[in-house]
Amino acid sequence: MKILLTGGAGFIGSHTAVALIENGFEPIIVDDFRNSEPFVIENIEKIVGKKITSYASNIGNKKEVKEILQKENPIGVIHFAADKAVNESVVNPMKYYQNNVLNLINFLEIIDSIKIESFVFSSSCTVYGVPDKTPVKETASIKPAFSPYGYTKQVGERILNDFFKSLPSSSLTLLRYFNPIGAHPSGLIGELPIGVPSNLVPYITQTAIGKRKKLTVFGKDYDTPDGTCIRDYIHVVDLANAHVSALEKGLKSKDSIKTLNVGTGKGASVLDVITAFEKVSKQELNYGFGPRRAGDVPKIYSDNTLIKNELDWDAKFSLEDCLEHSWNWEKNLLKFKYKSEKKQD
Ligand code: WQD
Repeated sequence: MKILLTGGAGFIGSHTAVALIENGFEPIIVDDFRNSEPFVIENIEKIVGKKITSYASNIGNKKEVKEILQKENPIGVIHFAADKAVNESVVNPMKYYQNNVLNLINFLEIIDSIKIESFVFSSSCTVYGVPDKTPVKETASIKPAFSPYGYTKQVGERILNDFFKSLPSSSLTLLRYFNPIGAHPSGLIGELPIGVPSNLVPYITQTAIGKRKKLTVFGKDYDTPDGTCIRDYIHVVDLANAHVSALEKGLKSKDSIKTLNVGTGKGASVLDVITAFEKVSKQELNYGFGPRRAGDVPKIYSDNTLIKNELDWDAKFSLEDCLEHSWNWEKNLLKFKYKSEKKQD
């Protein structure tokens, strides 16, 4: 069974392509490679030992994507295609409204040219803003978005809910990711930050390998046990498997609309992550403390009861596993030249 992955050459998409093949599906990747590299496709093929179909196309190109849909006729879609850098969205909001909202609408306007039975959407815990309490449940009130990026995920969820309400025999699953980290244990695919990473873990591994001089911890005066922010860090392979489970469940229950948190249900502070990294890498990390970063939520981690019950899924990798795989990937990246190398500071 063919499953279309928009943005499927990206960090989460590439790992989901591997998980789909391991579960007997055939992923069809459509990606404009703005945040990825052709070698990612080759490395997915090395992991799974077979060729995969991919198209270099922007999902906003209705003519091209309609031709791909009609040629491949997938029964499911996993929609990853979006920009996801919170701070960039503040500086360049129109890029985010264009890609994350308008291109989603363009894609939905042509999707009725085929029969999609199960649609999975990449959403984010960012939709919660600053939660009233943690762990945060799917029923928590949705606060005003903290950034244009977070707003595009809130709008995307609403558009999809309204669109799929009118499609009785198609299911929709909205997956609210917490903090995806780690890399495939093979060391062949992982995160490809373009330029200076804004996310914590790639910044840690780039500091450890010498690409960055020092990690700055943004704030040590939060109302948390060690004063640093708390997040729910989930291994990208666990996250990929959650997509396969959501897709399969959607194929069985053809008219459902579900919203599910995808997290470990455990919180870890920035200092917890640094300590775990130093343990797995067996080296001290060069870091110091700086002022808080605008827009940071002090504490957020998931209540993952619903996904456990609905999909019989649970996170298997520990924080240390995540950091061991991220560190292995950073060391392997030295072998792969990629565009963001040109944008290093
Ligand atoms: C984590 C913690 C920082 C860098 C974002 C998006 C979210 C999702 C994941 C897409 C925070 C601290 C970071 C650094 C630091 N993306 N930090 N020094 O902001 O929780 O979530 O990425 O869905 O939508 O919002 O992740 O990794 O940027 O930050 O101290 O150099 O690490 O302050 O407390 P975040 P992050």
